[in-house]
Amino acid sequence: MRGIVLAGGSGSRLYPLTRITNKHLLPVYDRPMVYFAIEALVSAGIDRILVVTGGNHAGEFLPLLGNGSQFGLKHLDYTFQERPGGIAEALGLAEHFAGSQPVCVMLADNIYETSIASAVRRFGTQGDGARVLLARVSEPQHYGVPVMEGDRIVRIDEKPASPASAYAVTGCYMYDNGVFEIVRTLVPSGRGELEITDVNNAYVRRGKLCHEVIDGFWADCGESFGSYLRAANLVASNGANRPAADR
Ligand code: G1P
Repeated sequence: MRGIVLAGGSGSRLYPLTRITNKHLLPVYDRPMVYFAIEALVSAGIDRILVVTGGNHAGEFLPLLGNGSQFGLKHLDYTFQERPGGIAEALGLAEHFAGSQPVCVMLADNIYETSIASAVRRFGTQGDGARVLLARVSEPQHYGVPVMEGDRIVRIDEKPASPASAYAVTGCYMYDNGVFEIVRTLVPSGRGELEITDVNNAYVRRGKLCHEVIDGFWADCGESFGSYLRAANLVASNGANRPAADR
């Protein structure tokens, strides 16, 4: 399995902090934000990782992350998204890197208390399709929200005004290699981006989207200043990417 860390975008919800740097380089307690996504993949045994970034500060990722040796990696790959065209467009840039492998995609502003290792293992036994991780949240309207029938996701609504459940689809997505075909069929949403929720809904329509609810906290640092602050406090008090048995 290949890991893909998505670290592009304009980070406009954190202006003015992100006027002079990339959002994913901002500190979260004791580490730059992007570290957490790389550590999450490494904790799941994924050692081939592509960092997709963009914008005027993309060059700063290289001196920070180097060849990945501080994460125990032998090498890191990088690519450049030429415009903020959305998460799914950024994922499409990873097709060449993925080759014929399945992928685990991490949004580099998402932080998980508990390692994703067991979820990645379960995706491995799933065979094909996709797997998403859900978190119970108090304000689902800011996220992709699953519409559930019993324990089945029948649709995901992106930032719905009236959320159909109390869950967010978090920013860790596991896909079989067919995901790149799906990305090619997408059209830009109202915000002019190729949406990851449209990718996930394509798997729902095929009956191939599995999900699980995460243990521990989940934080989307880029959602607002409140969520950014909350993430830093949670990391300081609980740590991140901890082995499940360690909690
Ligand atoms: C994106 C996704 C959304 C998901 C969220 C998780 O939102 O579109 O479905 O719940 O990441 O962080 P964005 O941060 O691009 O607004």
